[in-house]
Amino acid sequence: MMIQTEMIHKMIDFYKGNVHDIEHFLKVHAYASLIGRTEALDEKTQDILEIAAIVHDIACPLCRKKYGNTNGQHQEDESGALLYPFLSEFKLDTDIQERIIFLVTHHHSFSNITGIDYQILVEADFLVNASEAGMDRDSIRNFKNKIVKTHTGIKLFDSIYLR
Ligand SMILES: [Fe+2]
Repeated sequence: MMIQTEMIHKMIDFYKGNVHDIEHFLKVHAYASLIGRTEALDEKTQDILEIAAIVHDIACPLCRKKYGNTNGQHQEDESGALLYPFLSEFKLDTDIQERIIFLVTHHHSFSNITGIDYQILVEADFLVNASEAGMDRDSIRNFKNKIVKTHTGIKLFDSIYLR
């Protein structure tokens, strides 16, 4: 079985029936995978991106319990410690695992986006959050103009939200 497939099953189980969290990560993974494939990422980068998208909100249940919210800083602080045990059974190469953890612990920081995997994860998460949060057109356009960089991301924002 492909590692992403196994990890999706594990992540669904991890969320213990929280349908919102489950559907959120499935949607973010779908967009991230689509953008990555359309942008023709190399296989390793595509794998890193997809795995990061699957686990990117792993800290949400813990943050709700501990802080009463899932704000970005809390998630970034808490997700590293959850990811090591979650990822260990998959025996990822160290550099791949470290990059995934870096992406997850930075995915709410938009000021210094380094790398195409990071860029696409941010775009995919926002594509989903825009609809889940009922964001208005101006906020979406503003994000698109400031943050979205890939051709595929721009196309998707225009096609879905800004037509
Ligand atoms: Fe997310």
